[in-house]
Amino acid sequence: MDKFYHIVTYGCQMNVHESEKIAGILSELGYKSSDSMEKADIVVFNTCCIRENAENHAFGNIGMLKKLKAARRDMIIAVGGCLTQQLGKAGDLHDKFPYVDIIFGTHNLGKLKDYILKKQSQKKAVIEVVDDDGKVYQETKSLRTSYPNAWINITYGCNNFCTYCIVPYVRGRERSRRSADIIAEAKELIALGYKEITLLGQNVNSYANGTEDISFPELLQKIAEIDGKFRLRFMTSHPKDFSEELVKVIADNPKICKCVHLPVQSGSDKILRAMNRRYTSADYVEKVATLKEYIPNCAITTDLIVGFPGETDDDFKATLNLVNKVGFSSAFSFVYSKRDGTVAAKMENQIPAEVSKQRIMELISLVNSNTREQSEKYIGKTVEILCEDYDKKRGAYLGRDEFGRMAYFKSDKDVIGEFVNVLIDGANGISLFGKIV
Ligand code: 5AD
Ligand code: SF4
Repeated sequence: MDKFYHIVTYGCQMNVHESEKIAGILSELGYKSSDSMEKADIVVFNTCCIRENAENHAFGNIGMLKKLKAARRDMIIAVGGCLTQQLGKAGDLHDKFPYVDIIFGTHNLGKLKDYILKKQSQKKAVIEVVDDDGKVYQETKSLRTSYPNAWINITYGCNNFCTYCIVPYVRGRERSRRSADIIAEAKELIALGYKEITLLGQNVNSYANGTEDISFPELLQKIAEIDGKFRLRFMTSHPKDFSEELVKVIADNPKICKCVHLPVQSGSDKILRAMNRRYTSADYVEKVATLKEYIPNCAITTDLIVGFPGETDDDFKATLNLVNKVGFSSAFSFVYSKRDGTVAAKMENQIPAEVSKQRIMELISLVNSNTREQSEKYIGKTVEILCEDYDKKRGAYLGRDEFGRMAYFKSDKDVIGEFVNVLIDGANGISLFGKIV
């Protein structure tokens, strides 16, 4: 009889790709994918803890499984990822949800197979969260779900310790994979028909820092030289390490998308210092100017945080000014969330929720109006879209241009994984609409 798995993923692209690795492990054990939790023999929660709401969301959903588990005692529930890696959280989770069978952290995902086999032979829960041992993980075979895009990890962990951020605590120190392995993986994926490669790391720019291997711009260049038609993307870039050498490589290689995610977080130098970002808003604007000098039409996207401890109205205004100055193609705006164990959690002058709420609404409205303006400029233009999926609700295919703009369009035949030319005849916020020409 067939056995099924269902994976619930929270958080960033790193987690999305790690869920593909989890899927690879489960399929090796003979499980098949299922969209339904009710039908699944094993449910895996791949969690996130970057902000409190991500954590609450996961806790809520794990809680909802109690009933299902009572009705289906043989079902295995496993919880892994960033949430469980936090100090003391695995124990809390076990106390709160004793019916969870397996708890594992970010550093031992590769052992999930052993944990499942162990659980199948014992009644007791299997709980193992290990500390970072500084090693590059043993790559497990992924069962990729995001065709035509393929994610490739280039670094794991982070050394930056931005004062608000939990990532360095739950993902450990930065480690780079060998460039030869990364290039071989990219070649294999392109040969298999993947049309977009996205290199992943918390700070891709510091790739191979301190080792003998090549630099990030060199790595990017080498991957861009692989034969075949494909797009190359990467994320995330830290502004302090974003170099002119990298900008030149992006400019010179048509396969590298002219779209850079460069999180600025705040426009206030006082707040950037308190965040330990190690650049000023003027430094950031200068990096953007260099980027625009070499690639005038380059799209820049960013992350912004409001309500960081000590943020005054003037600090917030500096963020609004920066947003206006740069003209981001899109931005993710977040309310600061206090994370236990981080430096900022102990700072005075935590900002009241009502103030942060007011600020985030103002920021989102500004960001949206910039995005809308840029989308409207597309009307009447023909753009090359890499078709990614079919949206049943809209009855339309969708995909992005090289600048990351999403477009919806109709097609009589399945064009997923194909590059198509789409004449844009409508725009709604961040989305474009058009027809194949
Ligand atoms: N609160 C709010 N936003 C955060 N981010 C990271 N940590 C926090 C936090 N504690 C945001 C940053 C980062 C993005 C991935 O998440 O903007 O770039
Ligand atoms: Fe977090 Fe800063 Fe590292 Fe990004 S660079 S993961 S925000 S500590």
